[in-house]
Amino acid sequence: MKGVILAGGLGTRLRPLTNVTNKHLLPIYDRPMIFYPLQTLVRAGIRDILIVTGGNNAGDFLRLIGNGSAFGLKHVNYTYQKGEGGIADALKLAEHFADGEKLVVILGDNILQADITPYVEAYKRQPSGAKILLKRVSDPERFGVAVFRGKRVLAIEEKPRRPKSNCIVTGVYLYDAQVFDIVRTLVPSGRGELEITDVNNAYIRRRQMTYNLLKGWWSDCGTFDSLLRAAQLIARDSR
Ligand code: G1P
Repeated sequence: MKGVILAGGLGTRLRPLTNVTNKHLLPIYDRPMIFYPLQTLVRAGIRDILIVTGGNNAGDFLRLIGNGSAFGLKHVNYTYQKGEGGIADALKLAEHFADGEKLVVILGDNILQADITPYVEAYKRQPSGAKILLKRVSDPERFGVAVFRGKRVLAIEEKPRRPKSNCIVTGVYLYDAQVFDIVRTLVPSGRGELEITDVNNAYIRRRQMTYNLLKGWWSDCGTFDSLLRAAQLIARDSR
């Protein structure tokens, strides 16, 4: 399986921190943010990795990560997302890289305590479709929220005003090659982006979506509070 880290976007919610750099290069305790999702993939045995960057600081990723020798890699692939088309738009750039193989996609601002190897291994045994990793949180309205009937996920609602559960979709997605056909059918959402939640709903409608509840703590870093929280969780675990 191959891995994709989505690290584009303009990080507007973190201005002025992101005025002169990419969000994924900001520090989380003692390391740049992008190191954590990279480590998550490497820990799960993924060695063929594509980093999708964007904005004005794409060259800094190359200077920082190079060919990934600090992570035990021999080579890292890079590509560039023009503009602010959203997560699913960035994913389009991975089609050539994926070359028909299954993918682990991780958002560059998702910091996980857990080793995702068990979920990746379970997904490898899944004949087709997708898998998402869910997490219970206290502020579900900030995320894609799972709507359940019993244990079955009926749909994902993106940033609903009244969340139907406190179970949210984290930014770790396991996809087969159908994802690229699905992305081609998407239309921009209210915020003008191609939404990853629409991709996940397409798999759910095809009855080809499985999920697991992610163990350990999890944080995104899209806001000042979550950025601080992620750093505090990492610092606590490093002591
Ligand atoms: C994105 C997704 C959302 C998901 C979240 C996880 O939100 O749209 O469904 O729950 O990542 O970090 P964004 O960070 O673009 O607001």
